Amino acid sequence: MTNRLAGKTALITGATRGIGLAMAKAFAKEGASLVLNARGQEKLDDVAEEIKAEYEMEVLALPGDVTRAESVKRIAKEASEWKTIDILVNNAGIHIPAPFLSYTFEEFKSVMESNVYSVFHVTQALLPGMIAAGGGKIINLASTAGKWGSRNQSAYNASKHAVVGITRCLALEMAPHNVLVNAICPWIVNTDMAAGFMDGHAAALGISPAALTEKMNSSVPLGRWVEPHEVAGLAVYLASDESSYINGQAWTVDGGYTTI
Ligand SMILES: NC(=O)c1ccc[n+]([C@@H]2O[C@H](COP(=O)([O-])OP(=O)(O)OC[C@H]3O[C@@H](n4cnc5c(N)ncnc54)[C@H](OP(=O)(O)O)[C@@H]3O)[C@@H](O)[C@H]2O)c1
Repeated sequence: MTNRLAGKTALITGATRGIGLAMAKAFAKEGASLVLNARGQEKLDDVAEEIKAEYEMEVLALPGDVTRAESVKRIAKEASEWKTIDILVNNAGIHIPAPFLSYTFEEFKSVMESNVYSVFHVTQALLPGMIAAGGGKIINLASTAGKWGSRNQSAYNASKHAVVGITRCLALEMAPHNVLVNAICPWIVNTDMAAGFMDGHAAALGISPAALTEKMNSSVPLGRWVEPHEVAGLAVYLASDESSYINGQAWTVDGGYTTI
């Protein structure tokens, strides 16, 4: 099947690398126009040009920090003046690994700002347009860390539990407006973020990152991390009309980890 997102426009935050970039490419391949966001303008412009050239779709690059309400208002205004936004993907996020007693309040707060308050700012800015247009899709990048506990990342798990909570509440509130809201909860995805937090976890446990990776991989039936395109495939489905009765769910992408 192709052109599953033909005629739609998607805004993806944190689109310059990792999962966001994989989703941007997968959406463009299925015929969506794109508004792409991240803080680093140069990289964002490069990614926008690359996707435009490869998929021959319209792409608007809107740099800005999604933790800042003023930046988000500007992004939402410019995006909505360009096209009606049918699909919002709240993907931008950060991870700071640390044992609970070692976190500074500033670190804990910055994880909450990047992973939770960004979802509040961006979603609140774009929802009125979706409601006025008669519907839309919102996809929030949570994590398996939003479904269970993990050592040495209480800020991250708290933030991702909050994202799952917002998803469920918004799904109820927005159903009458035909705006469907779902979350994706992947296990470890092969991105820069994962490389960074594996180093942090390994240091906290006093073992090498390679030893930790081997230990983690032996605990999951598929024996490896998730690849970004494997998350993007689910995002395309949730963004498309094929998922028109799927609402308020937090989709686990864990290679069978939770069945053990
Ligand atoms: N990797 C994993 O194992 C994993 C597992 C489950 C869930 N997730 C979630 O999936 C999402 C993407 O993760 P990833 O691994 O692809 O991360 P990543 O490789 O670190 O990429 C993060 C992206 O977000 C952007 N970003 C970060 N903070 C931002 C801000 N304040 N405003 C705008 N853009 C911002 C970054 O660009 P700039 O730095 O230029 O802004 C970058 O494009 C996150 O929400 C993450 O928590 C990841």
